[in-house]
Amino acid sequence: MSLLSDNTTPAQAHGRGRFDATVELNRVICREHYVLRLRLPGGFPPSLPGQFVQLGCRPPGAPDGAIDASWLGGCEHAWQPGDTPPQAQQPELRERVSVLRRPFSIAGRGDDAGGSWIDVIHRVVGVGTAWLAGLKRGDAVDLIGPLGNWFTLPAGKSMGLLVGGGVGLPPMFYLAQALYEAGWDAVGFVGALTADLLAVTFVADTPPDGQGAPWRCVEEYSQFDFPTVVTTDDGSLGMHGRITRGLERYLSAQTREDAAKTVVFTCGPNPMMHAVARLSASHSVDCQVCVEQAMACGMGTCQSCVVKIESPQDPHGTTDAGRPWRYRLACTDGPVFQAKEVLW
Ligand SMILES: Cc1cc2nc3c(=O)[nH]c(=O)nc-3n(C[C@H](O)[C@H](O)[C@H](O)COP(=O)(O)OP(=O)(O)OC[C@H]3O[C@@H](n4cnc5c(N)ncnc54)[C@H](O)[C@@H]3O)c2cc1C
Ligand code: FES
Repeated sequence: MSLLSDNTTPAQAHGRGRFDATVELNRVICREHYVLRLRLPGGFPPSLPGQFVQLGCRPPGAPDGAIDASWLGGCEHAWQPGDTPPQAQQPELRERVSVLRRPFSIAGRGDDAGGSWIDVIHRVVGVGTAWLAGLKRGDAVDLIGPLGNWFTLPAGKSMGLLVGGGVGLPPMFYLAQALYEAGWDAVGFVGALTADLLAVTFVADTPPDGQGAPWRCVEEYSQFDFPTVVTTDDGSLGMHGRITRGLERYLSAQTREDAAKTVVFTCGPNPMMHAVARLSASHSVDCQVCVEQAMACGMGTCQSCVVKIESPQDPHGTTDAGRPWRYRLACTDGPVFQAKEVLW
């Protein structure tokens, strides 16, 4: 599906729903990272790069630990040291299970005679992702999606720089597919602390360039004929240094005409995205960021995922520098925002 225009609002989002998915594959891609392909036999609503799904990271149908109302309602418990009140005997407090769903960016999707499939790339960091890592072909997964807004392709632009750090890479892969279909050109920027944390598939006999020259060395991008700049903080593969070093080198070599056609799309840790946003601004290049703010419901109910966004209309406050801001929800107003509007 092609990307929607930049005046499409999240309110115009396609339908979303809860789906019973089946694991088609769950493959280790590098240390701590897995590619999980989920099959949805009845199909999946249209989705766009930047959107995410909420995965139930425990067996579907397992007791959800919902609070038994009769245990609450004015209930008081005279606690003694060593005592466990009945409320604390709920399943989610006794066992290491993830009660809340966990958000994951869509890393790719396809539709065929067997319904739809969705790829998720996950890094094991806690109880939910540890459960995902143990999934085998045929296992059931409960999924809600597609959620959130998406990257947009502004009119007059034709070159995308896809800057993904750590688990910020998955939405970039899905975006590469969309850029290719839209006839854009693109360069991937892939960064990690060290070589075995780079969640990509390297093209055989084509090592990344050590000086940061774009090279068709990463399959996720080279399948669309896009080259990639690889950086590692410790210099174990590709260019030595942070991903911003590779981006700076590239942006500095661009002509003014090329810069005017370029958009930087980025996802990764907040400090990285902030640095990418600053760098893009200093080269007068537009930048869109996909924030992976910790979230609970994923659909605008719990208000746990707020980000401060510049907002002259109806502001909640004003920064010391006089910029009016408003809290926006990463799950429904985002996760994609214009970098220049984010108050980091
Ligand atoms: C919109 C969105 C898209 C995401 N896409 C991906 C993805 O494609 N691949 C992927 O691996 N992860 C992604 N994440 C992060 C992923 O949701 C968390 O890693 C996951 O919830 C951890 O669950 P857990 O039960 O394994 O860890 P928990 O036991 O819940 O937490 C383990 C540790 O990770 C920290 N943590 C949890 N969530 C986040 C977060 N969002 N940012 C920083 N630290 C966090 C916790 O504070 C804790 O220290 C995304 C998050 C968001 C909001
Ligand atoms: S995660 Fe609940 S409102 Fe955003």
